[in-house]
Amino acid sequence: MAINRREFLGTTLGGLAAAGAGSLVGLDALLATDSPAYAGFPTPDAAAGFRPDTLFLTWQRDPTTTMTIQWLGHEHTHSARISYAVLGQENWQTADPKLKPFPNTQFDVFRTELTGLSPGTEYQFKIGDNSPTFRFRTMPAKATNDFTFVSGGDAGVNRHTIDNNIIAAKQDPMFCLFGGDIAYDNGVSAATNIQFHRDYSRTMIDTQGRLIPMVAGIGNHEVRTSKGPLHQRGPYYFAWHDGLYAETSYATLDFGDYLSLILLDTNHASPVAGEQTDWLEKRLAERVEIPHLIPVNHVPAYPSVRDFNFGGGAPIRKYWVPLYEKYNVDLVLDHHDHAFKRSYPMKDGLKDPNGILYLGDGSWGKLRRPQGLEKTPYLEHVSESYHFTIHRLEGEERFHMAMSDSGRILDVCSTKKKPRGKSMG
Ligand SMILES: [Fe+2]
Ligand SMILES: [Fe+2]
Repeated sequence: MAINRREFLGTTLGGLAAAGAGSLVGLDALLATDSPAYAGFPTPDAAAGFRPDTLFLTWQRDPTTTMTIQWLGHEHTHSARISYAVLGQENWQTADPKLKPFPNTQFDVFRTELTGLSPGTEYQFKIGDNSPTFRFRTMPAKATNDFTFVSGGDAGVNRHTIDNNIIAAKQDPMFCLFGGDIAYDNGVSAATNIQFHRDYSRTMIDTQGRLIPMVAGIGNHEVRTSKGPLHQRGPYYFAWHDGLYAETSYATLDFGDYLSLILLDTNHASPVAGEQTDWLEKRLAERVEIPHLIPVNHVPAYPSVRDFNFGGGAPIRKYWVPLYEKYNVDLVLDHHDHAFKRSYPMKDGLKDPNGILYLGDGSWGKLRRPQGLEKTPYLEHVSESYHFTIHRLEGEERFHMAMSDSGRILDVCSTKKKPRGKSMG
């Protein structure tokens, strides 16, 4: 059965109300399509058909051949079967979503994983029998194709996040990587999490109309506790991302044989030392031949704002940085401090032309004042700016451009493929 937009909003309102008044932060904002958050966007139009307002794409495994489609909805209120085909072709295939509860609401997460897709191919899909046609593209099969992705962290529900979303989407990135502190729901606010995804869904569409997949890592604002069953430590974050994080709060996402993102948990749902460190060493050792090997920290190894010794980075420098150096990773993405920073290439705690670059520090929608370069001698550039970074991979070379939420270029640098070999493992 199809449902129009007004009915869908009516049912979502009921779902939120069921969460209890205590968690209804921002309910008006959730439903106010004339709020500043939507300036410049068309008002939802029932005639356009069923378009879930939290619809977004992500991955649970190899992005060259799979795509995961997710949104929040209600069971039985609309047809949710996904029909998909290569763009321009009419050999439609179908897949049905799996449903699971979105905690403390009456919503379900509708999740459909498409597998066996062709790499480097543009697809179209529809939801049920009354939706617009959406588009996405799979990642290329080989690193010989140049491509762009964007990264950042520490977003939340605010104007800066939306501005950065809009500018990031204009870069036509293949995906958007968030290194933690994504919605700022703190594991307790369903409404905040939903609003973040509404903003993402509406803004993260590229210049060709393709939805931009999200890759997410965990930060402190995803979790409410570090104890108890894993997925209950950050219930809203894991409700969306427990496909990739089925057993642990850290994971690798391998793009064919050319790019591996090592998505780490810097002491939020899982401790740094022990199991995760053992896991990290194994994962790095297995990937020495991957040309683009990039760990993603939430808490920075080399902070721009917080104190070097007491800012939370000490265990990362103790347990993980030696592994990053042993396996000579290409680049480390840091977040959490809420500023732009680029480190010097660092090795053994010192500037070294053969060292590792740390880029951060998570200011997609949150901002703090950096300490200043005299107090952070390991940093070459800092800026108190909302920003995201555009990464362009061209063969064995990478370009990294930091861009502010007004579209200003803050910094450009490049990194090259590093020597790694089997002997290192
Ligand atoms: Fe943050
Ligand atoms: Fe944080």
